[in-house]
Amino acid sequence: MSPSTGAALRMLAATVDAKAVAEIGTGTGVSGIHLLHGMRPDGVLTTVDPEPEHQQFARQAFRACGFASNRARFIPGRALDVLPRLADAGYDLVFCDGDRLELLEYLAESLRLLRPGGLVVFEGVFANGRTVDSGPQPTEVIRIRELLRAVRESQELVTSLLPVGDGLLCAVKR
Ligand SMILES: C[S@@+](CC[C@H](N)C(=O)[O-])C[C@H]1O[C@@H](n2cnc3c(N)ncnc32)[C@H](O)[C@@H]1O
Repeated sequence: MSPSTGAALRMLAATVDAKAVAEIGTGTGVSGIHLLHGMRPDGVLTTVDPEPEHQQFARQAFRACGFASNRARFIPGRALDVLPRLADAGYDLVFCDGDRLELLEYLAESLRLLRPGGLVVFEGVFANGRTVDSGPQPTEVIRIRELLRAVRESQELVTSLLPVGDGLLCAVKR
């Protein structure tokens, strides 16, 4: 994740005064650290990833950055198995950085999870320029294009694509 994307994530978390954030794709915790910095000091990041080693690494990274252990809830598993168990309208921000083949499903789950005025954010929507490349593209790029169309056409969302890093798609739920 680029520094500019990290800075944008901090700013977005602060903009919605985030107390509860759901993250799809813990990875090594880079995005989580930025989100935690932008959230309220008592905010809790709920982060989902099927790879326990990734979550272990992120847990250590959060600790090394000085975040108390109760600032993050690590849930091992695939997003589409875990998200249905999370509370309706219980989140201020949902950050999607998991499986690109599941982007439309993440959008649908995010709309359920977000409170009105909450933000859904998708990382990497430029796909290194392939999203706007007219040549043949893999399924994950087709999914990104479908996501962009769905977000643009939604009456429920106010959207902006921030040209930071590899493209950060942001949408506020009305
Ligand atoms: C690009 S990395 C995330 C990077 C992370 N946000 C960071 O900044 O360190 C993608 C992550 O999504 C996880 N992932 C893959 N499929 C997933 C799924 N179905 N649900 C949730 N996470 C998934 C991978 O294990 C990987 O850790």
